[in-house]
Amino acid sequence: MDDERDERDAQRAPEERDTADRHLPVLLQRCIDLLAPALTPSETVPVPVLVDCTLGMGGHTEGVLEQLPTARVVGIDRDPQALRLAGERLARFGDRFTPVHAVYDEIGDVVARLGLPGVQGVLMDLGVSSLQLDEADRGFAYAQDAPLDMRMDQTTGITAADVLNTYDERELTRILREYGEERFAGKIARSIVRRRQERPWERTHELADLVRACIPAATRKTGGNPSKRTFQALRIEVNGELEVLERAVPAAIEALAVGGRLVVESYHSLEDRIVKRAITRGTTSSAPPGLPVEPETHKPYLAALTRGAEEADAEELARNPRSASVRLRAAQRLRPTPDHMRTTSTARSASTTRKEDRR
Ligand SMILES: C[S@@+](CC[C@H](N)C(=O)[O-])C[C@H]1O[C@@H](n2cnc3c(N)ncnc32)[C@H](O)[C@@H]1O
Repeated sequence: MDDERDERDAQRAPEERDTADRHLPVLLQRCIDLLAPALTPSETVPVPVLVDCTLGMGGHTEGVLEQLPTARVVGIDRDPQALRLAGERLARFGDRFTPVHAVYDEIGDVVARLGLPGVQGVLMDLGVSSLQLDEADRGFAYAQDAPLDMRMDQTTGITAADVLNTYDERELTRILREYGEERFAGKIARSIVRRRQERPWERTHELADLVRACIPAATRKTGGNPSKRTFQALRIEVNGELEVLERAVPAAIEALAVGGRLVVESYHSLEDRIVKRAITRGTTSSAPPGLPVEPETHKPYLAALTRGAEEADAEELARNPRSASVRLRAAQRLRPTPDHMRTTSTARSASTTRKEDRR
């Protein structure tokens, strides 16, 4: 396996190698193995389609295109820079790969616009990519000084500075506590509001300094960098990550043809809870208890492919530190979603699809 990888690396142009090295895909082989049975061609579906909702550096997509030679991938990302770099890396696959600039809760519109009646696989590898963390000017990293931006799509939406300069203390406390699981949320929020009365928030290092000052020295010695939780919370708020995911998982399930498979990798307990809830809804009978025969319309429309959430093993952890918090869940569509189980949010998208780049 490693020899094969070395050989592939040697064949890549230097700039492609750079993209590949910048983000190691988490649980790559497990994701491919879970998706593969649905992405194998058949008489009725000669060209199976995977929607990679979180294209990023294209690591998972590249694995699928290499290992499943008849599959086609539609790669969605809200970050234009990720789309450009992944597009260069995946150019060798020609029209087997279609990049799309969109937010992933728009998956229904994206699939419809490509004229696909349903897709055979959907993959979601949530959160930020190493590229986004590494790019100093994007403001995701507490260790690098930069403007407080944190938008995955820098062409639209509010920045982290906007949040810090305009949200009231209660809202800031809630965000830090819920999304960052920060014990000192109230104290940090109070200090954020007090500090902005002197001058507006602009730079990441100013925020990192303030968080450090709010956390008692004894607590600072454990649990990693104290800014990690505050930066994570702000990033989730700036990008509306949880609201989008609430709409996106049911929309992804709706995009699947019967037999299609969904694989989701979460890195935050609130993300995993949303994914678990949507899958459990589909794997549970909706028949009222006590009926002698379960009506066809109330049978589960999904089958779970993982027992609970899978985590990374020691080998993966040693190779890829990003996998430390991963929770992987997967399910297969058994039948169309009965009308009474459709969520209203499925039909709604956060925003309209922008610049779609079809090749
Ligand atoms: C963890 S990375 C994916 C890495 C990818 N699997 C790989 O192997 O290179 C997550 C990517 O999803 C994108 N993303 C996050 N939330 C998104 C959303 N709501 N809609 C579209 N893209 C999103 C981010 O911009 C980022 O590039």
